[in-house]
Amino acid sequence: MTYDVIILGAGGAGLMAAATAGQRGARVLLMDHAEKAGKKILISGGGRCNFTNMGVEPGCFLSENPHFVKSALSRYTQWDFLALVEAYGIAWHEKTLGQLFCDGSARQIVAMLLDECQKGAVDLRLNTPLGEVRHDGGQFHVAGARAPQLVIATGGPSIPKMGATGVAYDLARQFGLAVVPPRPALVPLTLGEDQMLFRTISGVSCPSVAQAGGASFEEATLFTHRGLSGPAILQVSSYWRPGGSLSLNVLPGAGDKLRAARRAMPRAHLKAALSDHLPSRLAEALAERIGLTKQLANASDKDLDSAAEVLTGLTFRPTGTEGYAKAEVTAGGIDTDTLSSKTLEARAVPGLYVIGEAVDVTGWLGGYNFQWAWASGHAAGVAVAARASAG
Ligand code: FDA
Repeated sequence: MTYDVIILGAGGAGLMAAATAGQRGARVLLMDHAEKAGKKILISGGGRCNFTNMGVEPGCFLSENPHFVKSALSRYTQWDFLALVEAYGIAWHEKTLGQLFCDGSARQIVAMLLDECQKGAVDLRLNTPLGEVRHDGGQFHVAGARAPQLVIATGGPSIPKMGATGVAYDLARQFGLAVVPPRPALVPLTLGEDQMLFRTISGVSCPSVAQAGGASFEEATLFTHRGLSGPAILQVSSYWRPGGSLSLNVLPGAGDKLRAARRAMPRAHLKAALSDHLPSRLAEALAERIGLTKQLANASDKDLDSAAEVLTGLTFRPTGTEGYAKAEVTAGGIDTDTLSSKTLEARAVPGLYVIGEAVDVTGWLGGYNFQWAWASGHAAGVAVAARASAG
């Protein structure tokens, strides 16, 4: 019942920290209230786990302190994780935009991490509620076990039906660590009745450039019965704040495209011209919104320019997000100011570490969040093992 470190949460970050510390000689207890380790890994990437991204760099992460991620990311890179995946003979592929997925199943990633834990003689306890966490100065006490070091790796509250909780924030408050207010991120946005036009084309998707909160992403947008989704929207949702607007360009170069359509199909109407570039239900909804009813031959340059302006700058004022039930991650979290960026140890509580999604670090969609879990887990794993062998 006495360990060098107790790690709370057997998700991506906790598994990596446990394996790293165990293989460096630390006696590790890894605890989770779930019946299985790595449940979010298992459902990630549609069951194939987008386990990292070839383009990982600090600019792909949101945090009150954008420099915080640099140290951990540089000491355990996407190439380090890929080398581990390859050492286990797990076949992988790049899907798009540097996103690396298993060819087979996300189960292979969990099996690999569990095997790594076994190599480090990690004591894994599942189905274990945390109960009260006590600190008596020298030792942390959890569920009948004790250790001089404790790692919080319990993630954020996104997808509560998977067992996600905000316990990390409760523990942070207990130990006096500040918390940047958490909010759902990588999440669909909802639209009000005034944007009903777009809600009626639910299921339609189109390439787009979405912009909100100073960020811009060129990917697909999906119109839903509640509002907006798809990768472009999930990406900007992390930057969008309640009350803010969002703009969508659904036809880059619209001015030139409409002029070309006027030359090529002078007797056609706007809807037909738009249907050459956009799904027909969207083309119809946009033509209706623009209200240009003339044949293209009779449309002036000014008519086409104002139509282009709508198409390249559709403005929405979302009413909210679909919340933690649909959010792939939680933005905000334990304030990075309270942690060492090198070891993830709390400055004011020696022996206490926080890693993964529990920290105020949120990656873009596309494998970045797992890379943060691996990198922060590795950094803390190295640090706790070093302290264990020194002490
Ligand atoms: P994580 O949430 O994985 O683990 C926390 C652990 O703590 C869990 O095992 C949980 O059971 C345990 N826990 C929580 N509360 C507890 C309590 N009170 N007591 C005991 N244990 C407790 N990212 C990516 O890079 N690529 C991808 O393909 C995807 N895909 C994806 C799909 C879906 C549907 C979701 C919801 C999320 C993703 N993500 C993703 C995001 C990614 O899953 C996430 O960022 C990491 O899992 C975070 O890892 P952590 O280990 O920090 O938390």
